[in-house]
Amino acid sequence: MSEIKVLPKGTPEHVPLGVYVHVPFCARTCDYCAFYQVSPTAPMIHQYLDGVGREAGLIEWIRSVDTVFWGGGTPGLLAPNDLRKLGETVRARFGGTPTEWSVELAPASVTEARLAVLHELGVTRISMGAQSFQPALLSALGRPHTREQILRAYERIRAAGFANVNIDLMFALPGQDEAAWLADVREAVSLAPEHISTYCLTFEEDTALWVKLSEGKVKLDPEREAQLYEKTWEQLDAAGYAQYEISNFAKPGHACLHNLNTWRMQEWIGLGPSAASQHAGWRGTNIDDLAKWEEKLGRGERATEDRTALTPELLLEDCLVFGLRMNEGVDLAALRAKYPQAPWASIDQLAGRLADEGLATLRDGRLALTLRGRLVADAVGTEVMSAMEMKLSV
Ligand SMILES: C[S@@+](CC[C@H](N)C(=O)[O-])C[C@H]1O[C@@H](n2cnc3c(N)ncnc32)[C@H](O)[C@@H]1O
Ligand code: SF4
Repeated sequence: MSEIKVLPKGTPEHVPLGVYVHVPFCARTCDYCAFYQVSPTAPMIHQYLDGVGREAGLIEWIRSVDTVFWGGGTPGLLAPNDLRKLGETVRARFGGTPTEWSVELAPASVTEARLAVLHELGVTRISMGAQSFQPALLSALGRPHTREQILRAYERIRAAGFANVNIDLMFALPGQDEAAWLADVREAVSLAPEHISTYCLTFEEDTALWVKLSEGKVKLDPEREAQLYEKTWEQLDAAGYAQYEISNFAKPGHACLHNLNTWRMQEWIGLGPSAASQHAGWRGTNIDDLAKWEEKLGRGERATEDRTALTPELLLEDCLVFGLRMNEGVDLAALRAKYPQAPWASIDQLAGRLADEGLATLRDGRLALTLRGRLVADAVGTEVMSAMEMKLSV
């Protein structure tokens, strides 16, 4: 039996529960992408839908679900009937109506029929991977859609009745100067979505862009990246999008609750190959292979690899690393009360130093990075990990 205490929603003690569903299908692989996905066949889709049902059946759903996120892969590659099947399978486990249910859609897959099914199922939020509006940049990313497809998809999403829409953009792309990037940000803003995510291109191992980087055909430029970060934040702030995490901006009341739940190190259940979970006292990632995932489920076992017990040290470290990437920062006082055994002398020392260097503010026990601090958030994360290793004050 699980040890999680069930507390009513809305109480301060209630730990929100998220569900992430990974849909591992894409028509082709974008040049930058390292997410697990395959080009689907009809039997694979059948295998996948069947597997999600089995996987959900192996989980003890001890409380209702607060947020849901379908990502990928390209959930929108599923035919309307398959979207319905997937939706009905997972919805049967929610134990009520989730506060937020997001689905990622690539522009080329946005059709009226798919949107109608998603709306009917109770999906509340669409997240569209635009990446750029400029043909040359889309082509540099190996991204199979056009600017016109993005605009048409956006119109369809609104016409289908979705009042909460996110647009993903990417920057620091090969061949993209500052003017081109800011034009993309402006164009996204002109559509007036409730939420915008801006991701700095990362060269993931074994992707087509990574190969180009290792051959010297494209180059990294950290200084230019930092400039672009700053310009983006200025421009989105001026347009009424408040930054709440390094890469995420929202109009008031539209931060993505599912992602907040993850970054606050609460609980979520992952379904589908390569999906991560954190609940019932452990964390782990599903096998990133459709056939092996399905095989394991067929034997009546969850297909999680690398299960790790959620120790206080692990949770605290991640609360600090991910929490500091959010503008709200971290409540050190609350964390100290929750994890009194942590090396607080070294964490306090680091917090004091970050504040002295103007990289963070420390007010009423809450530590939050300043703009300058957010620009070096990765380095701050590394320092947090070092501080956690120093057992100065057990
Ligand atoms: C889970 S991914 C995939 C979403 C969806 N399949 C799509 O492409 O529209 C979500 C977002 O992460 C971003 N992303 C993916 N790979 C990236 C990379 N290597 N560097 C920066 N951003 C990346 C893209 O903006 C993408 O839309
Ligand atoms: S970015 Fe999205 S569409 Fe492109 S390969 Fe990755 S998951 Fe598929």
